[in-house]
Amino acid sequence: EFLGSPEICDVKMGSRARKGWEPLLTVQNMNVLSFTCVFTLSSSPYDLLIITFVLVDWLLCNNRVEFTQLAADYKAVNLGQGFPDFSPPKFVQDAFCEAVRGGPQMQQYTRAFGHPHLVKSLAKFFSRIVGHEIDPFEDILVSVGAYQALFCAFQALVDEGDEVIIVEPFFDCYQPMVKMAGVMDGIGDWVLCAEELASKFTPRTKAIVINTPNNPLGKVYKTEELQMIADLCIKHDVLCISDEVYEWLTYDGAKHVKIASLPGMWERTITISSAGKSFSATGWKVGWAISSGHIIKHLKTIHQNSVYHCATAAQEAVAHGFDREYEVFGSPQSYFQQLPAMLQHKRKKLAMCLDSVGLKPIMPEGGYFMVADISSLKVDLKDESSKDESYDFRFVKWLTKEKGLATIPVSAFYSPEHSKDFDKFIRFCFVKEDATLDAAADILRKWSSTK
Ligand SMILES: Cc1ncc(COP(=O)(O)O)c(C=O)c1O
Repeated sequence: EFLGSPEICDVKMGSRARKGWEPLLTVQNMNVLSFTCVFTLSSSPYDLLIITFVLVDWLLCNNRVEFTQLAADYKAVNLGQGFPDFSPPKFVQDAFCEAVRGGPQMQQYTRAFGHPHLVKSLAKFFSRIVGHEIDPFEDILVSVGAYQALFCAFQALVDEGDEVIIVEPFFDCYQPMVKMAGVMDGIGDWVLCAEELASKFTPRTKAIVINTPNNPLGKVYKTEELQMIADLCIKHDVLCISDEVYEWLTYDGAKHVKIASLPGMWERTITISSAGKSFSATGWKVGWAISSGHIIKHLKTIHQNSVYHCATAAQEAVAHGFDREYEVFGSPQSYFQQLPAMLQHKRKKLAMCLDSVGLKPIMPEGGYFMVADISSLKVDLKDESSKDESYDFRFVKWLTKEKGLATIPVSAFYSPEHSKDFDKFIRFCFVKEDATLDAAADILRKWSSTK
């Protein structure tokens, strides 16, 4: 199709040669790295000059990388990226230090699919919650963060020609990962209307991806909604990839329910979570996928042929964390109680500040992000050069560069077809020290007073 367009050939030819692996052009949010051209030199069919620019390759831009770099370049107060700017609880830090001091074994490879201590701790901990006896060695894969578990799930379980339903807004890696598996995706939208969701299921649908509590909106799926999804999965024999990295973070009485715990769902759900979010230790990159052994074995194959092992000492520390949490579960000593209690206060602080400067926040029921409406703000973005970019991208860049406050544009969490409808929202992260939130509040209030 694009070869037929003379401007694209004219304008883009040779740009790869100049700029290394920069994309030649972007088609439906996919970066085309190279393509093949055929030129006819004369009317003779034998007189063809064929120039092959390798192959067409597709990769997706990762907006997070760009905005993280921008925040660093401008030394901005960072309410953009989703990580705590405080340390994990002392008991897991101590466990990590002890693991590192724990002799030669702790410094070497451990079991490829998960350190034995960790898989046993996870199995014991989550069996109680899922209501199913989890086999530590068959039903769990430990991964490099939840991110790698997601990657393994998509690579292992979906094939070319399959469809994957992703509910919008979605964590921005789902769509590129699905596309890298060579798959089509049908996208639902945010209001989880049963009829609309049902209409997205086709004979080719292989999986649905849900994320509860959701990043960026903070929606916590209710049992009835999960039941509706479960019914559709069972009816159409579809897998459910359930990203639950924010599972401990719910507010105002909202309750996180695992879809794997609903009848008939254990054997078709891949539950993904992470120590990064559970213990405020995102840099340790310990995550996992839990499912029935007949599903996990396929993820193990991908893991074995890509990453193979995860860091032993970090896994040992996380295992100690879960052993401790098992003992104090549901009590005020539990970190899984303390963290949401602390974040509830930070959520309120940020919401009040946003409100006071006219940024209408959408109060999250879970997770550690807050989305705010920027449509009422009148700002001269003074950026003629980037007028083709969506408004929220331009606004976030302006806020970072001109005011020193980093956030994330919400349209990045939508498919290209729908992103235009959501370009007047930005996302703030509130898992930050009070001093960081105060610094952000100062910036916003100063700006507001000069408007
Ligand atoms: C919804 C969601 N899933 C997965 C991840 C990745 O988690 P990890 O850092 O454990 O790889 C994140 C990180 O921000 C996330 O927000």
